[in-house]
Amino acid sequence: MTIMDSLFKKAVRLIPDKAPDPLIGAERQVGRSLSRVDGPLKVTGQARFAAEVPFKNLVYAATKYSAIARGRIASIETEEAKQAPGVLLVMTHENAPRMPAPPLMMKDPKGASGSSLPVMQDASIHWNGEPVAVVVAETQEQADHAVSLVRVKYDAQPARTDFDRLKSEAHEPENVLGEPSRIAIGDAEAALAAAPVRIDNIYRTPRHNHAAMELHVITVAWQEGGIIVHDTTQMVHLTRSTLAEVFGLPEEHVRVLSPFVGGGFGNKGVWSHQVLATAASQVVGRPVRMVLSREGVFRATGGRTLTEQRVALGAKADGTLAALIHTGIAGMTDHNDCPEQFTFPARHLYAAESMLLRQEIVELDMVANTFMRAPGESVGTFALESAMDELAEALSLDPIELRGRLEPAKDPASGLTFSARHLLEAYRRGADRFGWDKRNRVPRAAIDGDWLIGQGVATATYPYFRMPGGSASIKLTAEGDAVVSMASHEMGMGTATVQAQTAAERLGLPVERVTFEYGDTALPHGTLAGGSSQSASIVAAVMAANDVLVKELLKLAGNDSPLAGLKPRDLEARDGGLFHREHPARGETYVSILKRANRSEVVCEAAAPQPMEMLKYSMHSYGAQFCEVRVNRITGEVRVSRFVGSFDTGRILNPKTAASQFRGGIIMGLGLALMEHTLFDSRSGRIMNPSLAEYHVPVHLDVPAIDVIWNDIPDPHSPLGLHGIGEIGITGVGAAVANAVYNATGRRIRDLPITLDKLL
Ligand code: MOS
Repeated sequence: MTIMDSLFKKAVRLIPDKAPDPLIGAERQVGRSLSRVDGPLKVTGQARFAAEVPFKNLVYAATKYSAIARGRIASIETEEAKQAPGVLLVMTHENAPRMPAPPLMMKDPKGASGSSLPVMQDASIHWNGEPVAVVVAETQEQADHAVSLVRVKYDAQPARTDFDRLKSEAHEPENVLGEPSRIAIGDAEAALAAAPVRIDNIYRTPRHNHAAMELHVITVAWQEGGIIVHDTTQMVHLTRSTLAEVFGLPEEHVRVLSPFVGGGFGNKGVWSHQVLATAASQVVGRPVRMVLSREGVFRATGGRTLTEQRVALGAKADGTLAALIHTGIAGMTDHNDCPEQFTFPARHLYAAESMLLRQEIVELDMVANTFMRAPGESVGTFALESAMDELAEALSLDPIELRGRLEPAKDPASGLTFSARHLLEAYRRGADRFGWDKRNRVPRAAIDGDWLIGQGVATATYPYFRMPGGSASIKLTAEGDAVVSMASHEMGMGTATVQAQTAAERLGLPVERVTFEYGDTALPHGTLAGGSSQSASIVAAVMAANDVLVKELLKLAGNDSPLAGLKPRDLEARDGGLFHREHPARGETYVSILKRANRSEVVCEAAAPQPMEMLKYSMHSYGAQFCEVRVNRITGEVRVSRFVGSFDTGRILNPKTAASQFRGGIIMGLGLALMEHTLFDSRSGRIMNPSLAEYHVPVHLDVPAIDVIWNDIPDPHSPLGLHGIGEIGITGVGAAVANAVYNATGRRIRDLPITLDKLL
């Protein structure tokens, strides 16, 4: 990633390798299937989301969206809206406060914004759906009504909205998330041309939109020269720095709270609505709530962009690769930096004598595309893993056997050693569980009445990330309770639960005695919940804080303690205190240490060490996705009848929440495979299905029982041996489904989603 890259890439080779900190907690909390600590609050309706925070004198905002993709506002008629009942403000580019552009995520170290365009600062229009007016009124209904009375006339200009027409102008971006946009090893085109077995095809994936249950929402109030922001966000501290920049405030005068988030998936960062609501609140002098409608989420916050990918494989008769080519084009805008890194899986998965991996972008006038669960890897594995299946077919090899022959000894692109890679073990276990040996390799051979039955498999992969810059604090009380704090995020993944567990183990306390605080910039600096990085980032910071705490406790214990003379490395934490590793009776509880020191509490804070492990090793998670489909031979309808996900993701901290993450990712992958499709009118640049009635995501009847298993082999180079698991579940699913559809029908669909019309 860009920021990480520039900060650490050079430093890493100078730093000696260091074994990870031993786990000093003696009682296992890690690995227990603990139920969610925030579950009761959620099911009883007590968890307060950003749209539910009460404020005195709260007013409500609604937004009008541009109807053209490029041009200018010629005139904007607001009188009628201003006269409507309850209206306090109609804000347009003519009267909005002057504000600089928000800093862009991944480009600017302070940036959470999905776009670097200034918000509502002039008459220019950059995409169909850009906010052009905001109405603030006493009630939501009044705001919604009044905004419908705003009339806009446009001077439209020709817009770049037709990907097919513009793709000839595609160009390589400067980099792709800090990585080179092109990797060439040998002459892959020549090797392909000379290879005895060749696969060379184009795969297409459409735009997708995030469909988190919770809409985007901000409740914001100006107080004493600063702002208090209740936001639904994956990045409280970056939201703070972004809003501080836009409103010219010191960061300490901006507090962002986000204790509960109803799903993020990558686009709960800063978009125009937080800027507009905060500006409107400043103008009307009252707290403002802005809840985007579902349509607003589609129009004003970014989704996943479309891609057109070429995968070409040149194989020898034994299946080994003479050439691996993965190239292609993604749509992007000129005001964001999210090129959809679909070639990344091919950089790390397979041994090949030559490689050409190249990404290009074509700039379009559309809402800035953004990160969406496994950006790049989700759609990249669709193309690559479909092609691998095609190659297996061409070689008359079992697709798992083919993967075995292509397993690399080192990372193919970087040459780095793998930190932990047990992909073939995941295949072995998954195949066992699924009953892969019973599969009929001949397409269209298994028939049950009107239903053709097929099975497919594909590799899942996603990088290990740990973000720099996180700190945690631990407070121990005289009663023997601990409060562990870091401004991180619980968006439904299980963070609050899992981090209470890991901290409890580390401290040697029962989990009931540990509270994990998060979701508030008043807490020690958190890193974003993105890139499946959060668990490792938090654990590393808590471990660092605990190291400081142990030293502090030894000091407090003094010479009268059984701990006198012992060093941290002699100790383990258990039974609510610190004890000698080899002489279990020698030790003292926290309660006793604090009591003798006459202290009501001890608080220690520390920053996590820099994530050097990422630069020294090729660190990735892997998995094998097994799918069975039934395809109706009359209607073409595809039903997924069985699914097994077998994962290799380091140590699993909590099997219950982990299974839910894997399963959720797979379900989202079924949406990617079979239904999700943002319909974009290439003439007008208008999204045509901005609602959950017309943008289809899997519902219960689309989802079979999904079996998930994992290797649970710790990564020796990550904190606690863990890998983040938020995104890997969606990867490989598109190809597993497509490969199963091929096995069922003999039809190879290279164009997502696999809708029934493509099978008729
Ligand atoms: Mo994820 S797309 O990094 O929330």
